[in-house]
Amino acid sequence: RLENTLRPQMLVDYIGQTKVKENLKIYIEAAKQRKESLDHVLFFGPPGLGKTTLAGIIANEMGVNIKITSGPVIEKPGEMAAILNNLQEGDVLFVDEIHRLNRQVEELLYPAMEDFVIDIVIGKGATAKSIRLELPRFTLIGATTRAGMLTPPLRDRFGVVNRLDFYTVEELKQIILRSAQVIGVEIDQEGAIELARRSRGTPRLANRLLKRVRDFAQVKYDGRITKEVASFALNLLEVDKLGLDHIDREILLAMIEKFNGRPVGLEAIAATIGEDAGTIEEVYEPYLVQNGLILRTPRGRVASDLAYKHLGLDKLTEEK
Ligand code: ADE
Repeated sequence: RLENTLRPQMLVDYIGQTKVKENLKIYIEAAKQRKESLDHVLFFGPPGLGKTTLAGIIANEMGVNIKITSGPVIEKPGEMAAILNNLQEGDVLFVDEIHRLNRQVEELLYPAMEDFVIDIVIGKGATAKSIRLELPRFTLIGATTRAGMLTPPLRDRFGVVNRLDFYTVEELKQIILRSAQVIGVEIDQEGAIELARRSRGTPRLANRLLKRVRDFAQVKYDGRITKEVASFALNLLEVDKLGLDHIDREILLAMIEKFNGRPVGLEAIAATIGEDAGTIEEVYEPYLVQNGLILRTPRGRVASDLAYKHLGLDKLTEEK
């Protein structure tokens, strides 16, 4: 898939998350010098910011294989035991959505992470016996949209914990220029900045929008992405000047119109727009909070003056 070719393979090619990158570089180098596996790593933060990409980079930099799975996929402890047992010395096991592992599977991970052993119970009742199985030394890389959802015993077993933040416009611009080169589309500086501004601080979205804008550039223009082309295409895609999409705006509109700007709880917003509360909290809200459109107060969420201004200048007045 194209997404995979757009993903940087090595740390030097990875743009943004400077602090995380600098730290990882040290830990990787130190582990390699000692000829050890890297300590277990946890990444948390909103979706699309590079958690899977970084896991792949870590495996590449360490020169080991990566096995990718996700929390909800592993239903039984035996499945996790088989995955762990099949790893080679030093390999990376990437578990996306790690907060969604069930309790039995999670508990199997504790001794695996700590001592590289698992205890398998054979038989039932009074004759049940526990056998200890030695595992290869491996690196568990966990990813979650919310670190707060992890149980303390699991969280405490990660030696390295990194929060990923939204990217700056400048960082996204660089990512877009790099991606444009990879997929072979011409784009100028202003075109890249316009796309970057409207990508919600998120590389995954920036790359997706780049491909859609390329289609417009190809069919409606001369193939080159300029500011005008990007702006035209993104307006048609209903991505506004701040990068907000339809659902972002629905959330703000519900807060302002249905609740008259009073503080409102997550569940009430969710019920009003027919979206899952967890999805709003993990996927939509972080960007709206970061950009000062939603204020979180002790009595609930409120839309900021900026949100009113943004929506007012946008659709509401334009349509009149
Ligand atoms: N593609 C997606 N995310 C990227 C990043 N952080 N750096 C470079 N290219 C990317």
